[in-house]
Amino acid sequence: MNKFVIIWILSCGFCVICKTSSPEFKSDYSRNHLHWTCSNNACERIAGNYRVNKTLLTLETCRKMCVDDPIWPLPKSMKIFNKWHSQFLKNKIMYNIEALPGTLKLLEESIKIFRAYFKKNDTTREGNYLKLNIRVKNKDDIVKLELGTNECYQLFVKLGKTVNVTIVSQTFFGARHGLESLSQLIWFDPHENTYQILHDVEIEDCPEFAYRGVMVDTSRNFFPIILLKKVVDGMSHTKLNILHLHLTDSVSFPMKLKDLEWLSNGAYDDESLYTEEDIEDLIQYSTLRGVKLILEIDAPSHVSAGWHFHPTLSDLVICDEEDILNGHLNPDNEESLNILQNIYRNLLNLMHNDDIFHIGGDEVNLRCLETTKTARNFSDMITFWANYTNVLFERLKLANNNKLPKNVIMWSSPLTDSYDGLNYLNHKENIIVQFWFGNSYLFLAKQFRVIFSTVGYWYLDCGFGPWKPSQVHGVCDPFKNWQKAYEYRPWESKYIKSLTEGGEVCLWSEQVAEESLETRIWPRAAAFAERMWSDPPELNNNTYVRLDNLRESMRSRGIKVSAIWPRWCSINPGSCQ
Ligand SMILES: *[C@@H]1O[C@H](CO)[C@@H](O)[C@H](O)[C@H]1NC(C)=O
Ligand SMILES: *[C@@H]1O[C@H](CO)[C@@H](O)[C@H](O)[C@H]1NC(C)=O
Ligand SMILES: *[C@@H]1O[C@H](CO)[C@@H](O)[C@H](O)[C@H]1NC(C)=O
Ligand SMILES: *[C@@H]1O[C@H](CO)[C@@H](O)[C@H](O)[C@H]1NC(C)=O
Ligand SMILES: *[C@@H]1O[C@H](CO)[C@@H](O)[C@H](O)[C@H]1NC(C)=O
Ligand SMILES: *[C@@H]1O[C@H](CO)[C@@H](O)[C@H](O)[C@H]1NC(C)=O
Repeated sequence: MNKFVIIWILSCGFCVICKTSSPEFKSDYSRNHLHWTCSNNACERIAGNYRVNKTLLTLETCRKMCVDDPIWPLPKSMKIFNKWHSQFLKNKIMYNIEALPGTLKLLEESIKIFRAYFKKNDTTREGNYLKLNIRVKNKDDIVKLELGTNECYQLFVKLGKTVNVTIVSQTFFGARHGLESLSQLIWFDPHENTYQILHDVEIEDCPEFAYRGVMVDTSRNFFPIILLKKVVDGMSHTKLNILHLHLTDSVSFPMKLKDLEWLSNGAYDDESLYTEEDIEDLIQYSTLRGVKLILEIDAPSHVSAGWHFHPTLSDLVICDEEDILNGHLNPDNEESLNILQNIYRNLLNLMHNDDIFHIGGDEVNLRCLETTKTARNFSDMITFWANYTNVLFERLKLANNNKLPKNVIMWSSPLTDSYDGLNYLNHKENIIVQFWFGNSYLFLAKQFRVIFSTVGYWYLDCGFGPWKPSQVHGVCDPFKNWQKAYEYRPWESKYIKSLTEGGEVCLWSEQVAEESLETRIWPRAAAFAERMWSDPPELNNNTYVRLDNLRESMRSRGIKVSAIWPRWCSINPGSCQ
């Protein structure tokens, strides 16, 4: 049981044949004005010639050497004993992993991912380059991410005859975060044509919140798996750990479940559709990057598309004639619950994990439901709604071998604003309210757990105005900028913080499709990620420079990130205040 498996992976025998053109530095770097020097913790651009004056730095090197806190999100504890750095060749990295078999397999894969971050071809010139030893020591063999899984790690970078990196972790997910932090201590210097590493660093790090999510609505507009993988890339860079797909809504049902294929006729077209294999693939991709996938089929409202293709029944959904954008399951037709239970069963199988489940539950139109026979049997609509929610929970339990998932998320709504409603809800221990709008006071007072997605701060879709002619304003205008996402701390009191599992930024997709998905998410979700990971004190001037540095790092990995300011501010750090 305790037998550690030790393997050495020799780094790739990747041989670089550069046209070793000029040690005469190509491009911009021979231009006198593109050099920097570090003064007062800021990189100052100065005139000078690098070939004459070796104290001048490239911007890349200055960014890491000069800026406090080179890692985003900020680690809980980071000691940089010296701002020394050394150059190394990327094909001279040695890896040594100590881990139990399941974790070992994942770590081998995540080291491949880590290696691919270093895309530049380094020099072929002879020189004094150090060897880099990376050692990972991991304890447990936990291969599924659950709410509260230990994601801590320690990272040590020490210089001797070699540069020794040690990452110590309890689980794969911690070790992986350690590699992410390490990757931010490494950069490419275009003067030297080599990778550099900052050393004499000690980090001890754990997330402040267990649930650090991004929600993408794949119903209003569809996003192909390949693009969702890019979102995961950005999340893995910023240590976000939950990708929540708001998979279906009234307007489209882009999911083809083998048991319920007829529902997928509700997709916009045959391409705008996920298969079970697509989802498996995305789960595998995400797990290696420390991200858990959550699939939400919204109910009992926000349903319509797909449900009318049932082979025999035509009254599974009601009220979508009057408002196509918000149909409801028909409580008078029990078959709608049987089908939903079947969907739940399929999703649970697909996710291989019943730790967290999202049942939707938002924006129930009571005027629609009060016309049903079932509702008329209740004294008031809130009691009916609470009962309906309890019934969904029973169905979820049946779908999961008679065991309710430990964490069942539901959106905040008038139900969670109501004393009677909250009193009537069963399974309080399992419920987590995803708070987007309304009043959080009551359910918090009653000790329900919470995930914050407050519309005024953490909704990424706002600010683009109306999208149909009858609207005067966008539903949640104005735009919430990254500063706003960063500064929001809804857990002023210890009491609220103790009930807070985390937060999630939400991207509803009425006004976003493939071409702008990434820039709508980044850099705002990265700002949010630091709030979630280390909950640092308020924003300061350095935060701007650090976020801009992160943006460069994300861009170098092929992630599209909106600009935070004119480029002038990036090349004159400290000058835009
Ligand atoms: C090199 O650059 C530094 C930093 O600006 C400056 O203080 C120093 O005088 C320069 N040395 C030479 C020889 O130009
Ligand atoms: C690195 O070198 C390889 C092989 O010569 C070449 O194909 C590739 O384009 C180079 N990559 C970069 C980023 O220059
Ligand atoms: C670095 O690692 C090597 C090989 O494990 C070891 O021999 C050496 O003592 C280490 N150096 C430092 C400074 O920790
Ligand atoms: C309403 O309640 C009555 C009495 O409990 C019951 O017989 C009937 O089936 C209920 N109707 C619906 C639609 O639930
Ligand atoms: C919902 O209400 C009905 C009618 O009062 C009742 O029979 C049923 O047990 C309730 N369901 C749950 C899960 O509480
Ligand atoms: C940023 O720096 C400027 C100039 O030093 C100062 O006036 C301002 O208060 C600082 N802003 C923040 C958020 O720290």
